[in-house]
Amino acid sequence: MSVYDRFSLDGRVALITGGGRGLGFEIALAFAEAGAHVVVTGRTAATLDAAVAAITQGGGSAQAAIFDMADLEAGRAVIADIHKACGRLDILVNNVGARDRRPLAAFSDDAVLDLIKTDLLSAISLSREVAEIMKAQGHGRLIAVTSIVGEMARPGDAIYPAAKQGLTGLMRSMAVEYGAHGVTSNAIAPGMFATETNAAMAENPDMVAFARQRVPLQRWGRPREITGAALFLASDAASFVNGHVLTVDGGRSVQL
Ligand SMILES: NC(=O)c1ccc[n+]([C@@H]2O[C@H](COP(=O)([O-])OP(=O)(O)OC[C@H]3O[C@@H](n4cnc5c(N)ncnc54)[C@H](OP(=O)(O)O)[C@@H]3O)[C@@H](O)[C@H]2O)c1
Repeated sequence: MSVYDRFSLDGRVALITGGGRGLGFEIALAFAEAGAHVVVTGRTAATLDAAVAAITQGGGSAQAAIFDMADLEAGRAVIADIHKACGRLDILVNNVGARDRRPLAAFSDDAVLDLIKTDLLSAISLSREVAEIMKAQGHGRLIAVTSIVGEMARPGDAIYPAAKQGLTGLMRSMAVEYGAHGVTSNAIAPGMFATETNAAMAENPDMVAFARQRVPLQRWGRPREITGAALFLASDAASFVNGHVLTVDGGRSVQL
């Protein structure tokens, strides 16, 4: 077996939440290129249809599942459906992460709960369901997409980082709880990526200058640049990597 074979996802089934666009789509496309059957999720049928079409036109195998992450029951039903149809589920990427930039004092308890439900509770619920399937298979890869803002803070953005740090804790705990069953749990912490959602910000001259100054690579990340880390953690190449947070930020979080 060559070293390249260890990055193959042939025969694997992968679920990527928020896989219709942005980083989730790039991860799904890369997994499909590596041989996996991918299931992309989101709330918008047209976005998911376009994602599935792009992946299948490139020779990959893909399907869509529509549900809101805040609907925990719907998420569990989708997991059960995929498992029934595909007979296995090897990789779960919890990629959805909604953000609500407001001073902490402006949040009601309900607003906090809504965001925590979408960003953290949903991932706990899906990971718990999928981990039991992986445990029975004796193999699995759980990956959470967190953020460098879990470690670095700025005012007016408290709940999203709290959820992201919760996800890191979840992956570390699951690494310990499920490792003996061949299931690894890791996180990817992206820095500034010029995804569709960030397009206006990434083109703003002030933010271009900010990136030049504060990111050692002097620019925003390109969405495709998330895929190396994701494919690595999903593949046999990372067979002994467990409980790790892989930062992909051009060096932003280590520059004083
Ligand atoms: N981009 C960055 O610079 C950056 C930096 C650090 C961390 N991250 C993290 O990386 C992940 C992906 O970021 P991104 O910029 O690619 O995200 P994005 O462009 O906002 O895409 C998010 C995807 O998630 C889906 N989604 C959003 N809310 C959902 C919900 N409640 N239920 C189901 N699906 C939902 C969206 O589809 P629908 O709208 O159709 O539902 C979309 O396909 C997030 O967790 C984010 O926090 C991103």
